[in-house]
Amino acid sequence: MYIEPFGVERWLSKYETVVDYNLTSTSIMPLSINELLEITGEDKDQVKEDIFSLKLSYGVIEGHSDYLTGVASLYHSLQKEQIISTNGGVGASYLTMVTVIEPGDHVVAILPAYQQIYSVPESIGAKIDYLFLEKSPSGYVLDMNKLAALVTPKTKAIVFNNPNNPTGDVIADEYLEQMVEIAKENNSYLICDEAYRGLTHNIGFSTSVADLYEKGISLGSMSKAFAMAGVRLGWIATRDETFMQNANIHRDYTMITTGSIDEYIAALALKHKDEVQQRNIEITQSRATLFKQWLDSEPKLSYAPFKGGTVALPYFDSTLSSEEFCAKVIEEKSVLLMPGFVFGLDKCFRMGYARESEEKTIAGLNRISDFLAKLKQ
Ligand SMILES: Cc1ncc(COP(=O)(O)O)c(C=O)c1O
Repeated sequence: MYIEPFGVERWLSKYETVVDYNLTSTSIMPLSINELLEITGEDKDQVKEDIFSLKLSYGVIEGHSDYLTGVASLYHSLQKEQIISTNGGVGASYLTMVTVIEPGDHVVAILPAYQQIYSVPESIGAKIDYLFLEKSPSGYVLDMNKLAALVTPKTKAIVFNNPNNPTGDVIADEYLEQMVEIAKENNSYLICDEAYRGLTHNIGFSTSVADLYEKGISLGSMSKAFAMAGVRLGWIATRDETFMQNANIHRDYTMITTGSIDEYIAALALKHKDEVQQRNIEITQSRATLFKQWLDSEPKLSYAPFKGGTVALPYFDSTLSSEEFCAKVIEEKSVLLMPGFVFGLDKCFRMGYARESEEKTIAGLNRISDFLAKLKQ
């Protein structure tokens, strides 16, 4: 089965180990188990004993009950039976697409977005209509009239990513509700990659499609809002029973279980979600402020406001393509940025501002400033 190479991952794997500064990572400074225990106040000896005495069996097929309960608590209207444990957000997205999409199905994909949500349906043989978010001084705008015109009763699913990677935008509730109306009128699934949910800068957890709509499917992850990409855990959350049954049939063929040690650690973080979230949102907010100040001081860059997640999408003023621009920054300054072309965009690059220490972030930004100062327009 042919699938389009994953642009972001290809670029990262080529360069991320050879640069001095990675200023495009979408993670937050990762937690260690020690730091997690300090934040949560859990008894270190007890946790050590729990982990060391865990039997290294498959664990529970549908996922450990504490993990599923913890995930369900991130939604207003869901119980643990409405959560499927997966190998990361990528596992959640892949499993959802192979469950829902069949060759010839019509899908509407809202771009830019994390590539998985459209390249996997494309590889399955879906017919996809793409609708780009439009950049405006207040953020990114989804033209609802265009969306309503594209979605028909033949549309199996509308797929999108909110909070958005690569723009850092968050769709306001009134627009999400309009999207639900359009999906509902056409009996289409509304599938949202919500890996950055929990990191909306002013409110933390933004509204989920799984709470808004019976056929809303939320794809979640421990990697971003919980800063623990190393546990490789994610989830699917939905109230749609038919989907749940079908997804579990597919899941048996691809993962069996997600791993007892990982689930134990994730469940512990979810039990203390407020404390963990506070640590992560504080880092995100303070880096976002620093990053905005830097952007405002760079006359050759422009940007739309970023409101959530850990990334933003600055535009540059130059004859260089996004690939040429980022290749030069790597070559001349050893700083890694993500070129817009991997998202179907040009004259822009994605930056991630929460992964490095403040000191390293500033040092990396200074190198980009040097580069921009010599950049011909
Ligand atoms: C929007 C989005 N979804 C999913 C993922 C994959 O996350 P995970 O580490 O949980 O597999 C990423 C990773 O960058 C992402 O940005």
